[in-house]
Amino acid sequence: MAYLIGIDVGTSSTKALLIDESGKVLKSVAPEYEFQTPKPLWAESDPADWWSATIEAIKSLLEDIDPGQVVGLGLTGQMHGLVCLDKSGDVLRPCIMWNDQRTADQCREMTARIGEDDVIAITGNPILPGFTAPKLRWVQENEPEVYERIDKILLPKDYIRYKLSGEFFTDVSDASGMSLLDVRQRHWARYILNEFQWPESWLPEVTESPVASTKLSNEAASLTGLPAGLPIIAGGGDQAAQAVGCGIVREGVISTTLGTSGVVFAHSDEYRVESKGRLHAFCHAVPGKWHLMGVMLSAAGSYQWFRNQLCGEEVNQEKETGRDAYEILNEAAASISPGAEGLLFLPYLSGERTPYPDPNARGSFVGLSLRHTKAHMTRAVLEGVSYGLNDSLELMRSMGISPENIVLSGGGAKSPLWRQMLADVFNTRCSMVNATEGAAYGAALLAGVGSGVYPSVEDACDRTISTTDAVEPGDNVPYYADFFPRYRNLYPALRFEFEQMADTLQTQSEGRFYTVD
Ligand code: XUL
Repeated sequence: MAYLIGIDVGTSSTKALLIDESGKVLKSVAPEYEFQTPKPLWAESDPADWWSATIEAIKSLLEDIDPGQVVGLGLTGQMHGLVCLDKSGDVLRPCIMWNDQRTADQCREMTARIGEDDVIAITGNPILPGFTAPKLRWVQENEPEVYERIDKILLPKDYIRYKLSGEFFTDVSDASGMSLLDVRQRHWARYILNEFQWPESWLPEVTESPVASTKLSNEAASLTGLPAGLPIIAGGGDQAAQAVGCGIVREGVISTTLGTSGVVFAHSDEYRVESKGRLHAFCHAVPGKWHLMGVMLSAAGSYQWFRNQLCGEEVNQEKETGRDAYEILNEAAASISPGAEGLLFLPYLSGERTPYPDPNARGSFVGLSLRHTKAHMTRAVLEGVSYGLNDSLELMRSMGISPENIVLSGGGAKSPLWRQMLADVFNTRCSMVNATEGAAYGAALLAGVGSGVYPSVEDACDRTISTTDAVEPGDNVPYYADFFPRYRNLYPALRFEFEQMADTLQTQSEGRFYTVD
């Protein structure tokens, strides 16, 4: 029996997954690390942490098997991060991560130089603070001593590929989030590189996702226990790989992921772009195909924040009784009527991307009254995140994409209450799939295609993934149809105040004050 490995270089852990060719999960491990926020809006991570977690995870996967049976390893990971290497392949500064929001000025300047329409025409997307190119521009402007020494720029999973093989490759789906790829043509956007005088030699070679990009080096073989020469498959950005891992590989199929961030993802056979670039238009991990994607920065992350900051009582109960704090909170939220008696929550705790690319947007409870309890607030958080995801779905609907079924995944989708709420807010059937290992599972399937175990990505999914736990839209649909427009009107009403508040905080952090008289 052939075995496959998927590695997901994540935000707070690197997960390694071992499956057999039937798709059965044999082992999954995820050593954790922390990322740093040295300044407001910054998020940085040390690539050395990912590498030691990768070695530890692979070694642990191999404990009970013959490593010679592993026939391919596929990579996925957090997208958009900037890893800068010098000529000797050493890391020049911590990785500036996907959730870092420091580059609003660079995005504005780059967009003005290239022209907004041309940016979208070339890269399929606006230049957004989370994306890679504005981070490179930031380093150029703020850390000239680092910039001068750059010889390669890599995405997180491709740094791990470099450590595993000594070679530089990436794949089209991950590269799509750099603002440096011509997404329609699936090659580097030379026009943008030339405009900023960034040499193409800084970038790795870019291939389709299921391609065997390179092989495991002798050095990495002795560190991990895997056989030297093992094919390393290009893989994909975590969202494309997650979609493969849920079987979202054909037109008309949509998924929603409720992780820290929240994603609505649609496969597309053709290259198409939302007119204002509000949905990401990226290459898919299926060769020659694309996907559209809406990304909320704080989805289940909003709920985690709420639990950590305001629900000490439930967290203590969990410690005492072993019953999950979320389960306790969900039970209370289920007793509240839809719409939480007029309480709305805006989930923009780390700014937002879709549909409002605004680093200054902030989370808010709106409509609090004396009648409201913590249970109402809990329900409002779950509903606010669901409305935020529906914003992305509505953009897709406006482009003629109307799914009959939406596949849910991610930690938040474990809650039956949240699953039903999403089916009601989307007014569409929602289901789960048997495969629950997410992006690492997709990476392992891509490894299977690249090493010849499966003939195609579609075939790999057909053989391994099936739908489970469908929920139909229920009695709450008309309630949510009334509340959604109320939610939708809040961001435009508050946008200016969010911006003013960001200015005020910036002024005060510089030791200045607006009001003196
Ligand atoms: C996708 C995105 C996140 C990160 C981290 O555009 O920003 O999914 O890849 O998971």
